[in-house]
Amino acid sequence: MTAAIQRRLEIPEPQRAEKTELHPELNRAHVRFIGLGKTYNGQQGPVDALQGIDLAIQRGEVFGIIGRSGAGKSSLIRTINRLEQPSSGRVLIDQVDIGEFDEDRLVALRRRIGMIFQHFNLMSAKTVWQNVELPLKVAGVPKDKREQKVRELLELVGLQGKHKAYPAQLSGGQKQRVGIARALVHDPQILLCDEATSALDPETTQSILGLLREINKRLGLTIVLITHEMAVIRDICDRVVVLEHGRIVEQGPVWEVFGNPQHDVSKTLLAPLQHALPEELQRRLQAQAQSPDAAVVLRLQFTGSASDEPDLAALFAALGGRVRLLQGGVERIQGHALGQLLLSVSASTLNAEQLRQRAGQWAQQVEVLGYVV
Ligand SMILES: Nc1ncnc2c1ncn2[C@@H]1O[C@H](COP(=O)(O)OP(=O)(O)OP(=O)(O)O)[C@@H](O)[C@H]1O
Ligand SMILES: [Mg+2]
Repeated sequence: MTAAIQRRLEIPEPQRAEKTELHPELNRAHVRFIGLGKTYNGQQGPVDALQGIDLAIQRGEVFGIIGRSGAGKSSLIRTINRLEQPSSGRVLIDQVDIGEFDEDRLVALRRRIGMIFQHFNLMSAKTVWQNVELPLKVAGVPKDKREQKVRELLELVGLQGKHKAYPAQLSGGQKQRVGIARALVHDPQILLCDEATSALDPETTQSILGLLREINKRLGLTIVLITHEMAVIRDICDRVVVLEHGRIVEQGPVWEVFGNPQHDVSKTLLAPLQHALPEELQRRLQAQAQSPDAAVVLRLQFTGSASDEPDLAALFAALGGRVRLLQGGVERIQGHALGQLLLSVSASTLNAEQLRQRAGQWAQQVEVLGYVV
């Protein structure tokens, strides 16, 4: 990686916002929203897209924004580079309030913030090289500097052999690689991604996520990412915020929110990642024990707050009787073990409630789902 890419552009004449009112942790925030609101003039009257958003995004983190369609995700991300003008509140970048910026400073700000989109937004009549070079030309960068930069970036995104190709000759993943290279031409400090992998197949999504992770690590970029794919958040983000009707309903480290979502919206959004009860088991499940040899079905949830993975031998011994594994698994997110186990326990001397309490020594949440024969 060249020093040119790693170089950080300074904001001209920084005007620091009053710091005394801020918590030290927030003072270090790369992007900070304070009481942010956005109201659009819709055709049927005003639309409150964002209300009272208070949020801090730290330097160098990969920050996810999730929420149902219309929740305000794009509106929020677009206030970071002022593609959207807030109706109330403030946006601070490096503690500088960008609300007062004139045109010149806005141009400088937008160069420090790259953005990539779902539909790539490439110029179809220009080659890969020309697409990446264009913003440098517009900025008046001399030819030799432009060439060096475009070459470097196309190498970074793995498109060395495609300089002369036109967008129509590229796969979706390759087009997004051009989009990423173009977003990085001015050595930005922040990269905004609005549904950047939504048009891609799962394998290509993984390769683009790998590239974003590499850029985050190697260049130290702060990445703010909107997606409807929860697996993307799980695989790449450090922290996540959940929006609903323009408000924050939940936020935290990904392992915490994914391991134990609190709000109904988060639970609904994350449901596809949870293993549903197998249908065949659902049919056999009874609310009451119909015979003395019925097995108790327990669901154990691991929410990542314990330091170790569950010790199954100890767990099974504590439950006594015959323990069968019906379904389950554990995955690691940010070093935390998250997942669930469905067990049936028969021929134990303990009743259902006692089993639930015993299992609670190993899992963070335990439910008795019912009985099967
Ligand atoms: N230019 C606009 N004029 C009027 N209303 C708008 C405008 N842009 C967005 N809205 C409204 O603001 C709300 C938030 O929109 P936004 O695009 O931020 O949602 P989103 O979370 O990005 O949704 P999606 O997941 O569908 O992209 C929606 O109700 C939307 O209809
Ligand atoms: Mg959107």
